[in-house]
Amino acid sequence: MAELLLKLSSAAAVFLLAVLSLASSFATVEAKPFSRNLSPLSLGINKPEKLSHLHFYFHDIVAGKNATAVRVAKAETTSASSPFGAVAVIDDPLTVGPDIGSKLVGRAQGIYALTSKTESSLLMAYNFAFMEGKYNGSSLTVMGRNPVLSAVREMPVMGGSGVFRFARGYVEARTHTFDLKTGDACVEYDVYVYHY
Ligand SMILES: *[C@@H]1O[C@H](CO)[C@@H](O)[C@H](O)[C@H]1NC(C)=O
Ligand SMILES: *[C@@H]1O[C@H](CO)[C@@H](O)[C@H](O)[C@H]1NC(C)=O
Repeated sequence: MAELLLKLSSAAAVFLLAVLSLASSFATVEAKPFSRNLSPLSLGINKPEKLSHLHFYFHDIVAGKNATAVRVAKAETTSASSPFGAVAVIDDPLTVGPDIGSKLVGRAQGIYALTSKTESSLLMAYNFAFMEGKYNGSSLTVMGRNPVLSAVREMPVMGGSGVFRFARGYVEARTHTFDLKTGDACVEYDVYVYHY
């Protein structure tokens, strides 16, 4: 009986504490303003924007145990001859040279979808997660249209993180090799990006 009372009273105490702390948090939290102007210096931006050019190779491996691109969805009508509607998730290695064994500088992580009924064209939405030197831990976000049979495909850089905060720019993608049998591709990327 005494034990039960003790339990009940401790439950009541916990409840009371919760109510009190809720009340005091209402009392003490001052709402921060929804918006304000601030000096770029307050974010450590004390230099003009610079333009960087990055160059690497993107390996899209769709076949085999080590695939880096996996199909995750397709439409009822999606087939090999009419791939419209298929969606793939990628974690594609980025290397300095066209050889996949060359130095790894990052990974392209995201999705692409076949979004044209009449040609081989992808919507791509992915992040470059960099691992190299001062870029290690920084990322760039790319989203755009990729008509894969065109010699050069241009896609916008939407933004970035780390050294690429406030980034804007574009990429140029050129197919380096495409294996007709497996569908594996190696794509040369030139990235032109403004950032601080
Ligand atoms: C998969 O990757 C491992 C480790 O890099 C490698 O030893 C193996 O040969 C690869 N397998 C295929 C099918 O490419
Ligand atoms: C990148 O940063 C991670 C986390 O800080 C670290 O573990 C890794 O060794 C770094 N890689 C390179 C290539 O500098």
